[in-house]
Amino acid sequence: MAQDKKALTEANSINKKGVSETIKTIGFIGTGLIGSALARLFVRAGFNVILNNSRGPKSLNPLIEELGLSAKAGSNLDKTISESDIIIAPLPLEHYKILPADKLAGKIVIDTMNYYPTDDFHIKELDEAKYTSSELVQLHLKDSKIVKAFHNVGFHHLFSDARQSEQERTTIPIAGDDEYAKQIVATLITEIGYNTIDTGSLKESWRTEPGTPIYYYPYAPEIPKGISDEEAREIYLKQKVHPISTSEAQKLVNQTTRKFPIGGRMDLLPDAHISAFIEFTKKRF
Ligand SMILES: NC(=O)c1ccc[n+]([C@@H]2O[C@H](COP(=O)([O-])OP(=O)(O)OC[C@H]3O[C@@H](n4cnc5c(N)ncnc54)[C@H](OP(=O)(O)O)[C@@H]3O)[C@@H](O)[C@H]2O)c1
Repeated sequence: MAQDKKALTEANSINKKGVSETIKTIGFIGTGLIGSALARLFVRAGFNVILNNSRGPKSLNPLIEELGLSAKAGSNLDKTISESDIIIAPLPLEHYKILPADKLAGKIVIDTMNYYPTDDFHIKELDEAKYTSSELVQLHLKDSKIVKAFHNVGFHHLFSDARQSEQERTTIPIAGDDEYAKQIVATLITEIGYNTIDTGSLKESWRTEPGTPIYYYPYAPEIPKGISDEEAREIYLKQKVHPISTSEAQKLVNQTTRKFPIGGRMDLLPDAHISAFIEFTKKRF
């Protein structure tokens, strides 16, 4: 209780000072579709970013060039972690164990990962609902403060739905076990153009996982049936999406029931998403 109070006091003082005065550099472990979208949003909001992927710094040159002086490629993970005020881990869940628990001790780590099981990839504890995917990440990074965020918006709309004006902003859910970390992350998210709702602990984060009412669809335009692939693509990429208010987002989370089998299925996403995913993956930085 006393610790919660202390955490809240610290968070309030950081909020008062302004997160952008306290948090200047965001380290990315994973810079694919979601990582690139977030790097663009954070640079646009005035933060520095340090980017890492599995192929090494050279492969990130085009993105670094696009982002300008606020972005650099990390030479190694340890250095990125020590130079960053907060870490985002937009990795395939299969690879979460590459996150170095000792080096990340004490850090806030934003977890964007989702469980999409395949014939070759299953995690028994997730299939059996023993843990949520973010609890698994927290168990691995036992001394870090995990905040689940950005996981429920498709990569294209994560960038295009962000709005500066408060009235036009849509709402994304966050979850975590550390109140202080959640407040910091919520403030950061506001700076890049979203409202947030706190959906509770990592245990409760199944309420926003793949297949739930607040997952993906509220952030993407509806694509009518019977139109050509070209028309669908145009709508998918260009049509503005109606923002979700905080109360609408809360309603979507509240009406969630747990469904089995657990995990997302790529084949259930709209074709326009799949083809954009394939197209962007092909010309990946
Ligand atoms: N795509 C979406 O619309 C979306 C939306 C919300 C949440 N998510 C979730 O966010 C996570 C990332 O998704 P994504 O679509 O951005 O995936 P992605 O495009 O495949 O990017 C994954 C990134 O992780 C990097 N990576 C993989 N292994 C690594 C390692 N050992 N060390 C350092 N970096 C490593 C990859 O490096 P390389 O670039 O060198 O391959 C790549 O940069 C997933 O868990 C996904 O479920 C995705």
